[in-house]
Amino acid sequence: SKKIIIAIDGFSSTGKSTIAKQLAKQLGYAYVDTGAMYRAVTFFAMQHNYVSADFLKEKELIENLKNISLKFKYNEKLKFSEMYLNDKNIEKEIRTMEVSRMVSKVAAISAVRRKLVEQQQEMGKDKGLVMDGRDIGTVVFPDAELKLFMTASAEKRATRRYKELLDKGDKVSFEEVLQNVQQRDHIDSTRKDSPLIQAEDAIEFDNSDMGLKEQFERILNITERYI
Ligand code: C5P
Repeated sequence: SKKIIIAIDGFSSTGKSTIAKQLAKQLGYAYVDTGAMYRAVTFFAMQHNYVSADFLKEKELIENLKNISLKFKYNEKLKFSEMYLNDKNIEKEIRTMEVSRMVSKVAAISAVRRKLVEQQQEMGKDKGLVMDGRDIGTVVFPDAELKLFMTASAEKRATRRYKELLDKGDKVSFEEVLQNVQQRDHIDSTRKDSPLIQAEDAIEFDNSDMGLKEQFERILNITERYI
């Protein structure tokens, strides 16, 4: 079998990363969560007071992008790659509701996207990669051999994200999570640079009424046609 690039895009909380991780493991491929990278830049921007609910100091953030170094390091115990910002593990910090509230504003900045896309393309140069995000099949790897576009109803997606946050002890209401998912989808799909859209050659995959096992079997089936 040959090594390929698998691009998985879609709206927030469609279960992209769960499927992408499983698929990578099954194929012996690397997995890259590009959302973690945008979240890391957002966390940096929050720490330096470049972004809040009321403002975005775009110029200051852009000037300081050179001080951001992002790395994924594999955690042997957790069997999972964790996000490091300037050599500090920030995996927990980037998964909070606070970061979710700001991330789409930061991800709309072209200079931020350019920096991260370049790093993402570098990670795919040897293929054998599953990457998930919003613009992987359209911008990062327009020539990816397999592109999936995941969809699910907003209610289903918010329910998933809500459970995840509750499990982690984040005190949020379902309403707030639903609102955040819808707001991010809106900003992500209407931004000028690299909006979230389904690539022409992507396979749409609606998992609203599908369990994990069924999803994985179906996606593995599709994948086997490409490798
Ligand atoms: O995937 P996740 O929900 O963690 O992504 C967080 C945010 O990062 C998205 O809502 C989007 O604004 C941004 N993002 C992006 N392009 C990507 C991945 C994520 O703009 N490839």
